[in-house]
Amino acid sequence: MAERKLHVACIMDGNGRWARRRGLPRTAGHTAGEEALAIVTRAAGDRDIGWLTVFGFSTENWIRPRAEVRHILAMHKKLFGRLDELNANNVRVNWIGRRFDEPGSRTPSYVQRAIKRAVDDTTQNTGMVFTVAFDYGSRAELARAAQLAAADAANGVQPNDLAANLYDASLPDVDLLIRTSGESRISNFLLWQINGAKVHFTERTWPDMSAEEFDRALAVLG
Ligand code: IPE
Ligand code: IPE
Ligand code: MG
Repeated sequence: MAERKLHVACIMDGNGRWARRRGLPRTAGHTAGEEALAIVTRAAGDRDIGWLTVFGFSTENWIRPRAEVRHILAMHKKLFGRLDELNANNVRVNWIGRRFDEPGSRTPSYVQRAIKRAVDDTTQNTGMVFTVAFDYGSRAELARAAQLAAADAANGVQPNDLAANLYDASLPDVDLLIRTSGESRISNFLLWQINGAKVHFTERTWPDMSAEEFDRALAVLG
């Protein structure tokens, strides 16, 4: 079997702690986190990673203070707006998360537009697939996949039927999962797709992520 390129996933945690340690508001941590993401995206592309998937905002994160949520949304508009750089690096932008027309969807229209534009404007790119999980929760994804699969299946739902109904069925299984900030848990991220993944937990907060730390994580793959 031909070897495929690697799929690396990141739970970008610790923006708040990064800021608190510097006596800054949490929002400054999210701004710094967005910049770290740009660095990691570049590093992953340079290392010929096939898929980079990052947890930007969870279905649980809406309960944070309104001003913080507003700032995180603005950071997503900024990251989906880095189109010159993404196109220059041949990166295809992708998004997984609760569909905008699903009950309970709260994604404001300006973020919806930024996501759609980034996906549309990079669709021809043939390099790394950069997927942002926004308003994403793995259990919601699986519940929806099960429902869609059941509606189709005459003879019961098999694992392949479920896999075919994930938000993006073309994402391969994750090879390496990275979580920053010293938390060694998964937090409802890609529960189906991380089967078989190796995991790298680092004490570093996300805004302190660097190309060197990314390489240390890749070393886990041996
Ligand atoms: C990750 O950093 C960013 C999001 C979850 C949106 P946190 O904001 O969770 O930072 P900590 O965990 O409070 O330090
Ligand atoms: C996970 O981080 C979600 C994202 C990175 C977007 P959280 O900070 O929300 O996770 P918990 O609540 O500590 O598990
Ligand atoms: Mg956190």
